[in-house]
Amino acid sequence: MNLGILISGRGSNMDAILAAIEEGRLDASVPIVVSNRAGVAGLDRARARGVPTLVLAHREHPSREAFDEALVEALRRHDVDTVALAGFDRLLSPVLLSAFPGRVVNIHPALLPSFPGLHAQQQALDYGVRITGATVHLVDERMDHGPILAQAAVPVLDDDTEDTLAERILAEEHRIYPLALALLAHDEVRIEGRRVRGGVPTA
Ligand code: GAR
Repeated sequence: MNLGILISGRGSNMDAILAAIEEGRLDASVPIVVSNRAGVAGLDRARARGVPTLVLAHREHPSREAFDEALVEALRRHDVDTVALAGFDRLLSPVLLSAFPGRVVNIHPALLPSFPGLHAQQQALDYGVRITGATVHLVDERMDHGPILAQAAVPVLDDDTEDTLAERILAEEHRIYPLALALLAHDEVRIEGRRVRGGVPTA
């Protein structure tokens, strides 16, 4: 699997994926990491692991579609066959999704379909759920939406803040993102409507 990773910031999920590859837990290579924002920490982390990086600023493109065309061109240039979103903060258009059908993956810090969008951890606290978690899913045209590959549950504690809850969820994100990508790398999943046969429920 030739994985292109799209980031916008810290890049800790990207780093977890790269670590899993280095440690032989994920059979993939990452020919390119693309960020839509310059100067973010994730770019330094990718370089530190010897992975080529590219900044493609969405602001320099006249439309979402034009930006996605530039992304597709860059990813194809690096022989990418699977795209992992790792904190990437732009909604993708059909231009990118149709270029990699069924091969665009995202991670979200909640048990989807609950709490899509920004500040998922604070949304969970505000709602008062006792269990939240992390979800890895295939991407469709809606935000934080699409067939679910893997989920992990995280209890909400009485004294949790957005930061403490986010930290515990993040540890689970780092654990399940490489697991979910390994399913794709080994062609172990079948999509039937919304359901994924062969996904991983991780307690
Ligand atoms: C992660 O918590 C990821 O789940 C979240 O952004 C963070 C990125 O952190 N993504 C979303 O909320 C998607 N809607 P990272 O840059 O350290 O991987």
